[in-house]
Amino acid sequence: MNCPALFLGIFSVVRRLPGSWKMLTVAVCVTLLGYLQAQELQGHVSIILLGATGDLAKKYLWQGLFQLYLDEAGKGHSFSFHGAALTAPKQGQELMTKALESLSCPQDVTPSRCVELKGQFLRLSQYRQLKTAEDYQTLSKDIEAQVQQEGLREAGRIFYFSVPPFAYADIARNINSSCRPGPGAWLRVVLEKPFGHDHLSAQQLATELGSFFQEEEMYRVDHYLGKQVVAQILPFRDQNRQVLDGLWNRHHVERVEVIMKETVDAEGRASFYEEYGVIRDTLQNHLTEILTLVAMELPPNVSSSEAVLRHKLQAFQALRGLQKGSAVLGQYQTYSGQVRRELQKPDSFHSLTPTFAAVLVHVDNLRWEGVPFILMSGKALDERVGYVRVLFKNRAFCVQSERHWASERCQCLPRQIIFHIGHGELGHPAILVSRNLFRPSLPTQTWREVQDRPGLRLFGRPLSDYYAYSPVGEQDAYSILLSHIFHRRKESFITTENLLASWVFWTPLLDSLAREAPRLYPAGAESGHLLDFEFSGGQLFFSQQHPEQLVPGPGSAPRPSDFQVLRATYRESPLVSAWPEELISKLAEDIEATAVQAVRRFGKFHLALSGGSSPIALFQQLATGHFGFPWAHTHLWLADERCVPLSDPESNFQGLQAHLLQHVRVPYYNIHPMPVHLHQRLCAEEDQGAQTYAREISALVTNSSFDLVLLGMGTDGHTASLFPQSPAGLDGEQLVVLTESPLRPHQRMSLSLPLINRAKKVAVLVMGRRKREIAMLVSRVGHEPKKWPISGVLPRSGQLVWYMDFEAFLG
Ligand code: BG6
Repeated sequence: MNCPALFLGIFSVVRRLPGSWKMLTVAVCVTLLGYLQAQELQGHVSIILLGATGDLAKKYLWQGLFQLYLDEAGKGHSFSFHGAALTAPKQGQELMTKALESLSCPQDVTPSRCVELKGQFLRLSQYRQLKTAEDYQTLSKDIEAQVQQEGLREAGRIFYFSVPPFAYADIARNINSSCRPGPGAWLRVVLEKPFGHDHLSAQQLATELGSFFQEEEMYRVDHYLGKQVVAQILPFRDQNRQVLDGLWNRHHVERVEVIMKETVDAEGRASFYEEYGVIRDTLQNHLTEILTLVAMELPPNVSSSEAVLRHKLQAFQALRGLQKGSAVLGQYQTYSGQVRRELQKPDSFHSLTPTFAAVLVHVDNLRWEGVPFILMSGKALDERVGYVRVLFKNRAFCVQSERHWASERCQCLPRQIIFHIGHGELGHPAILVSRNLFRPSLPTQTWREVQDRPGLRLFGRPLSDYYAYSPVGEQDAYSILLSHIFHRRKESFITTENLLASWVFWTPLLDSLAREAPRLYPAGAESGHLLDFEFSGGQLFFSQQHPEQLVPGPGSAPRPSDFQVLRATYRESPLVSAWPEELISKLAEDIEATAVQAVRRFGKFHLALSGGSSPIALFQQLATGHFGFPWAHTHLWLADERCVPLSDPESNFQGLQAHLLQHVRVPYYNIHPMPVHLHQRLCAEEDQGAQTYAREISALVTNSSFDLVLLGMGTDGHTASLFPQSPAGLDGEQLVVLTESPLRPHQRMSLSLPLINRAKKVAVLVMGRRKREIAMLVSRVGHEPKKWPISGVLPRSGQLVWYMDFEAFLG
């Protein structure tokens, strides 16, 4: 009988018994049920370690398997361990025996008992060459024969892929076709990073693996999730839920730092490192995983793998897209030389691979809006340390002098929680909570208070300022993860969905930085303050200007400040021309001045904005540098929109939202997105979205005359979403029209030319070398909106001003 059926049977009998009998019977039945369930799980487990003689196996995996054996063998399971590799049997066995000689026992095991236990483990561990499809078939037959001979029941098989990813597909195919256990027994395959190089390659690898294995069979390892302190983040949040509920949010958290500093460099690993670099090596995986553990919503039950993984995925989805300016990159000075030596590159070779990166991340949800998360990792730095630091805001002012500040009560001392992953001055994993915050609760059997070490200061305060706890027994990450694999604790591993979500987040940044030269640093303490960085307005930048950049050498490129803003005319209207940065500043200033004037005269300012890439820098400038802007009295309209949902990254409104709206305080009712998405469909004529928008404009904007319309100019002469050869919106009565773009997404909504020309002021922003040709052409043509809609922009009684950067204007 299966368990639920048995339980139902018991339940129907018990219902008919009197009270005390009922309780007793239930207790007996539950014990019986537990016993039956345990019986059902026990049996023989075969663990196949592929890459058994490699570095990872020698350093961590055999030790982890030994630990698993010690923990589980006494509980009714039997085990066999198969070390496998491509090496021939004799040599492979020798190498493996060497690796096994260095196994160590836990501290509380006596030396003689340790010898005994190691002997048992060695007898259960055999080497075998796994090269051909037949080798895999033989392995499977051998396991079946062993199970049968010994009268055991097969519980399952674990295959640990400690091999390079190019070998994955062949091994996976062989396991799937000839090494699956019989019915009733489980299969688990354990995979090591790298899981791809970018979103596309990760997707391809995932699809390939998905053709051999079910999702629940795959365990993708990120060894940081097995580090004791990292594995404690969620339980800590859970156990201290009552206090943290009120504190774990944007109102109280100043910032979060997720840091992994290393002193080692990439010597000996150049072929791997040169292809991956620091972002792929540690930020995309270790640091991002930790970030999600801090940022995710805490599920009611943190031991539910399913709930943890779901909440983690939601945290990924809330990450704001990264821009080039979200990161700074560095490279230690001897790196290129190492690559030249190890990869036999010519003397002229210089690598662009970063060995240091700091990235500013934002989590766009109500809990974390505005809280900076700083991720930083690097090789050849001054110390080895890993930690997550949650720094809380402090609004207190203490009147008495500092010598009266007692750490428990004083609200003036910094308030922080540090998940100290390891190393550093402290030298071991620990969780630290400022004494002026709260006394944390941790499982007393496995965590104990750290003894004070006078003189030791951490994060600016003496150790005695913290409640500090460390694990009773230090355990290696791989031992912990092997135990979690055995117990099917999937929350400690990377699902396909989470993996792809992480790559979706990182790939655009990696692409945008691919040709960026990292800042060179000397390594170790000598780097001084060269890598220090600051952040503001969504951007992160080095605090120090690069020394070489301060003194331009002979022949160095002209810098923006070498040029004045140029004033001229273009198509008989005023033209402002400058380098991009200055041009944007000038335009932002002019818009602010127009806004201030409009609000002074009419009480409100109606601004219609175009989408596309050129205005993004403008939006950012307005968002960060214009504190006098009368946002509370500004109405924001769209000059045009793509027919996609407003949440789509392609949507103009989405760009406006990401780069401007979320940083300024515009009343909701003053924001007027174009209604392209009505009745669950996009820009359907019948839904009359264009007419609705026109009515809204007529109702709110006096004489339908915007105070300012910001336009761009396409390389084909289009403006807003009015395209050549597409007559809609070029003349006539309609204020808002549906149009067709030659580029995807084809369907658009746009203000019409007649409406644009009613504006009090129209600014046309044109930037980049790509616009040079059309700028030349349009300078010469007359009024021909059918061929070049931009030539139809001529405000009836308002003013037109062109803003062109030097590249567009001068080429
Ligand atoms: C690995 C990276 O994932 O993590 C290495 O590939 C890095 O570059 C290592 O050195 C750090 O791990 P740990 O456990 O020593 O902090």
